[in-house]
Amino acid sequence: MMTKIAVLTSGGDAPGMNAAVRAVVRRGISSGFKVCGIKRGYAGLFNGNQFVEMEMGSVADIIHRGGTVLLTARAPEMYQSEFQDKAAQRLTEEGIEGLVVIGGEGSFKGAMTLEQRGIKTICVPGTIDNDISGTEQTIGFDTAVNTILWAINRLRDTATSHERIFILEVMGRNNGFLALAAGLAGGAESILVPEIEYNIDEICDRLIRGIKRKKAHSIIVVAEGAGDIYDINREICERLDTEVRVTVLGHIQRGGSPSAVDRLLGSRMGSMAVELLAEGRSGLFIATRGQEVVPVPLTACFTEARPFPEDLYRLALTLAR
Ligand code: F6P
Repeated sequence: MMTKIAVLTSGGDAPGMNAAVRAVVRRGISSGFKVCGIKRGYAGLFNGNQFVEMEMGSVADIIHRGGTVLLTARAPEMYQSEFQDKAAQRLTEEGIEGLVVIGGEGSFKGAMTLEQRGIKTICVPGTIDNDISGTEQTIGFDTAVNTILWAINRLRDTATSHERIFILEVMGRNNGFLALAAGLAGGAESILVPEIEYNIDEICDRLIRGIKRKKAHSIIVVAEGAGDIYDINREICERLDTEVRVTVLGHIQRGGSPSAVDRLLGSRMGSMAVELLAEGRSGLFIATRGQEVVPVPLTACFTEARPFPEDLYRLALTLAR
């Protein structure tokens, strides 16, 4: 019978991670486990003593807070087998038999290596990018989309007043899930994502059509991985001979109080992770299927990239006239 479990958050923080940490701790203690928090993600396994014994009160007053109280880090060491061995050994020394990893795909890969070394491991998807294959939604995505919408609404006010075109860069180094969701919900005229090659002539044609029918403004949402936003800006300015303003939203979109959706997801997923450990299960991550949260083999998310919803992309273009 397992007695001690641990939880860590890893990679880019995401709003709702705290709800998941709270759920792991409280469900864990209620189930009779000792629960330990590991600070600074996997990096906490290599640098001094980053283990904190958690009590019910350790996670009080955090459900509404963005970021992660456990702190987080990117730990490239975890791609090397020597460090994977060290990490597993460190957990074993601390008497930790079960681990909950809250993070994105890179963090899941690290978890897999620990699972292969005998640590029972369950993952919870926490990333604003929503790019994990096998789950429809990740913790943090909903809040980030709403933060981008908040920005689009404000840009719209000033864009309309000055009859200007705005380009807004949002996060998404390798994918455009955030850009698409926020662009569609925000009524953006064009959405540029790494998955679909863009054509600057087409973008300009759309803008010209808008100007001709006296459209007060246009907003172009660009995922950071789609191209250099300043090059795109220059090309549009030259072709249209008009004013275009650029806004880079940056890390603002990663912070903030989590939405109800992300708090619910964090609470449900964190709790399920502990239930699975209590059943002696391992090598799984928690995914959403419609309204349900379900366990899925960890390997499922590595086999192929999450498919980009091209139908939604086409819908966004059709609606933004
Ligand atoms: O966590 C994923 C992500 O938000 C990406 O969308 C973005 O490209 C990256 O993190 C930024 O990372 P950092 O905080 O290390 O600059």
